[in-house]
Amino acid sequence: MRRYAGEELVDRILLTQEQIDRRIAELGRAIAEEHGGRDLRLVTVLRGGVFFLADLCRAVDAPLSIDFLAISSYAGSSEGTVRITKDLDDSIEGASVIVVEDIIDTGLTLNYVLSVLRQREPAVLEVCALLDKDARRIVDLPIAYKGFSVPDRFLVGYGLDIEGRLRNLPYIATVHDDRVA
Ligand code: PRP
Repeated sequence: MRRYAGEELVDRILLTQEQIDRRIAELGRAIAEEHGGRDLRLVTVLRGGVFFLADLCRAVDAPLSIDFLAISSYAGSSEGTVRITKDLDDSIEGASVIVVEDIIDTGLTLNYVLSVLRQREPAVLEVCALLDKDARRIVDLPIAYKGFSVPDRFLVGYGLDIEGRLRNLPYIATVHDDRVA
């Protein structure tokens, strides 16, 4: 089996590349069926969501565009201090917008992003999340398209990082307990 740099931190592979690929193909088909023919925009929050967005958009057989935003992290900040640090490039008024997230944890990030985007009057505003760590949820959110439910463990790979690293693992894995701060 191929070895990847940084893999010594990995405890157990939770989702293999094949499992992720298969699920993304299903999600892509569902999105194309329900939103094909509309002005479809897939929007993600930098940075972790980039990996999922890149694979998901290629699994959606329908015309679409992609866009990105970045926000200051919720980690260590109160809700009032969160702000957009990079906004979308395009207007979303009247568009069918799907916010694509790698993981929903507390739900605070997505709750903020949805509230900002809603004010811009898209025709549709839905969520597609690859991973749902629902045990940690503080704000309840509707997830129209969900990849997998995951346990409350520190996860790396496929966009998820530990101190900025391991996003480039092709699978999603837990980390050895003694490596998590
Ligand atoms: C992750 C993930 C979500 C957010 C979810 O991003 O991509 O945006 O956390 O957490 P929440 O539901 O508790 O708000 P992170 O802040 O780690 O930034 P990154 O994408 O740059 O890694």
